[in-house]
Amino acid sequence: VPVHYAGVSCEMDKIMAIAQRHNLYVIEDAAQGVNAKYNDKYLGTIGDLGAYSFHETKNYICGEGGALIINNEKFIERAEIIREKGTNRKKFIRGLVDKYTWVDIGSSYLLSDLLAAYLYAQLESMKKITSMRRRVWEYYYNNLKPLEEKGYLNLPQIPNNIIQNYHMFYIILPTNKIRDELIQKLKENGIQAVFHYVPLHLSPMGKKFGYKKGDFPISEDLSSRLLRLPFYNTLKKNEQKKVIQILKKLLLNY
Ligand SMILES: Cc1ncc(COP(=O)(O)O)c(C=O)c1O
Repeated sequence: VPVHYAGVSCEMDKIMAIAQRHNLYVIEDAAQGVNAKYNDKYLGTIGDLGAYSFHETKNYICGEGGALIINNEKFIERAEIIREKGTNRKKFIRGLVDKYTWVDIGSSYLLSDLLAAYLYAQLESMKKITSMRRRVWEYYYNNLKPLEEKGYLNLPQIPNNIIQNYHMFYIILPTNKIRDELIQKLKENGIQAVFHYVPLHLSPMGKKFGYKKGDFPISEDLSSRLLRLPFYNTLKKNEQKKVIQILKKLLLNY
């Protein structure tokens, strides 16, 4: 289950080759990767299944909602049943059975038509939304690049063979202490900045499965130093400037 974090694709060629070698299915978590590409292919369309999110925190939203992309035909029929409360109603609608009935597990996963309409308008404005987000992303990137060159922080890396969707802007700070101090300083200035995720193996459920601190040292290290900067379509340059100033002041005086 590769996660296309920040709408930046995982190395899908390598992942698909590993999956093929070991006879595994690949489910892309493309929750953050709608409208982004890897080698000219949309994220979510490369593995057997792909999942999109239209949650209010994403690029194209309807409050709560998502989509399942099915690339492996063997999963289509069951997905339709699960979506229809565990019934074969879809077959009935197509005239393939004379009545519909309960055949499997399921729930009521249909998006309401009002939410679908809200989402559709945004999908129609995809280009505009992407260009607004690109402006915010590039302003952070260009203005923070000199700090990266001097070794004060690390910026997102976007490989040449991918197209990102400007989902978020994160930075990696030198230490956990600096990251936490920066969150505090921003907060004192009325700016909310968050980090995520807590590595799953350190969550209560992860621990229940027997994992412990030290099992995934790279995840633990990066998650302790990562910070997401404020990011939304209409964020203004002077607001971004303020975030950057606070960041610079803290890092240069450290
Ligand atoms: C990487 C990732 N996976 C899954 C999800 C879940 O998406 P949703 O809230 O639409 O179920 C999210 C969104 O929070 C996400 O960022």
